[in-house]
Amino acid sequence: MADTAQLKIADKTIELPIVVGSEGEKAVDISKLRSETGFITLDHGYGNTGSCQSDITFIDGEKGILRYRGYPIEQLAEKSSFIEVAHLLIWGELPNQRQLDEFSELLTAHQMLHEAILDHFDLFPSNAPPMAVLSSVLNALSSFHPQLLEIGDESTFQAAVARIMAKVRTIAAFTYRHALGYNIIYPHPDKKYSANFLHMMFGQPYKEFDPDPTIVRALDAILLLHADHEQNCSTSTVRLVGSSEANLFASVAAGVCALWGPLHGGANVAVVDMLETMVEQDLAIEDFVSQVKDKKNGIRLMGFGHRVYKNFDPRAKIIRGICDDVLSKLSISDPMLDKAKELEEAALNDEYFVSRKLYPNVDFYSGVILRAIGIPKEMFTVMFAIGRMPGWIAQWYEESKFTRIGRPRQIYTGEPERDFTDIEHR
Ligand code: ACO
Repeated sequence: MADTAQLKIADKTIELPIVVGSEGEKAVDISKLRSETGFITLDHGYGNTGSCQSDITFIDGEKGILRYRGYPIEQLAEKSSFIEVAHLLIWGELPNQRQLDEFSELLTAHQMLHEAILDHFDLFPSNAPPMAVLSSVLNALSSFHPQLLEIGDESTFQAAVARIMAKVRTIAAFTYRHALGYNIIYPHPDKKYSANFLHMMFGQPYKEFDPDPTIVRALDAILLLHADHEQNCSTSTVRLVGSSEANLFASVAAGVCALWGPLHGGANVAVVDMLETMVEQDLAIEDFVSQVKDKKNGIRLMGFGHRVYKNFDPRAKIIRGICDDVLSKLSISDPMLDKAKELEEAALNDEYFVSRKLYPNVDFYSGVILRAIGIPKEMFTVMFAIGRMPGWIAQWYEESKFTRIGRPRQIYTGEPERDFTDIEHR
């Protein structure tokens, strides 16, 4: 393949370098386009724009491939744990036993919150959206760790990672309990990451929470499956904020805000809302699918479709299996799961969805599992944020190696120059 592309534009032909990734992905490097021609590229929604070169996650949306640092997601979900995967994403390699033990000990050492942080929870109304609390408290953490605001070396980075990874789960559980007016359950020194989260959510001062290992494993797998997904909306936000040399706490807090939206992290809530409505109103699958297909209704089949996956979402396949395991272990027969399966079946055989390459995404079943575990809908996006944290951190760190602030351009479509009109003449 040629190593340059030619672009003929306004009677001028320029050579643009071609960049090829390690999996054969191809890009035209247009960084000199404006200086050489006066043109920029325009790509609403960035469907064709590579914002960086990255070593972290590989996705082939056509083939349904997702790999973290080269490892297929299927193998990681089967054989690994969320914390191992966090190490992999952040430091590039799966940890050996000693590294894993050290990382786990570091997380245990930093899982408590400063007592003054607890006061923050009291300042929110009890019905505050948990994502608002999470992003605010993560950002507030920066003021408790002034020594970690500038990451000058690896050990400072490791210290910041440990604080954020350990505390995000504590903040999440405290948010939940505070909203319900429950006492706070402190983290348990001997429990592992996901088990400890469940302990802080559902334990009692007089009674440890001791869930079935299938539940702990399911939660750990959900976190692992969400751990990174290359340059999506929230990750791009984290990298963009980080490119201004904003600190890691502030950058991941911005990621939480980006994730909040229903088209991104809020989708599994929307899926459960949709399934609940269908069950409550006993809506026939065909009627609902017809409503979705009729664009004037403005209804989307939530949990379906993905900007990148145009064949299947590999995470959805894994999560569907976990969903069956959890529900059978808990002996739950959930009419919502039956509706979800019927809906999936109907959509996968419907010309509308097939022709638009719309398949179930990771969110289609994750809400059903979280609900079965006892995690309320309001906390679903927070669970996603906990899962995505290692990915945001890894991406932020990679971005910090570049020295150029992110700054897209635009094509201005507003008024041409006009003279100021005094207020009495307007
Ligand atoms: N239901 C019905 N129609 C859909 C859906 C859907 N879920 N998703 C896309 N379409 C249709 C669009 O209306 C459009 O139709 P048209 O060509 O007739 O105009 C076509 O499919 C292409 O849709 P786009 O919006 O261009 O697809 P895009 O790649 O921009 O959107 C997105 C991806 C946002 C995920 C979209 O599929 C969607 O809204 N899905 C539902 C929300 C959801 O599940 N989000 C979770 C994403 S995964 C995650 O964030 C972890």
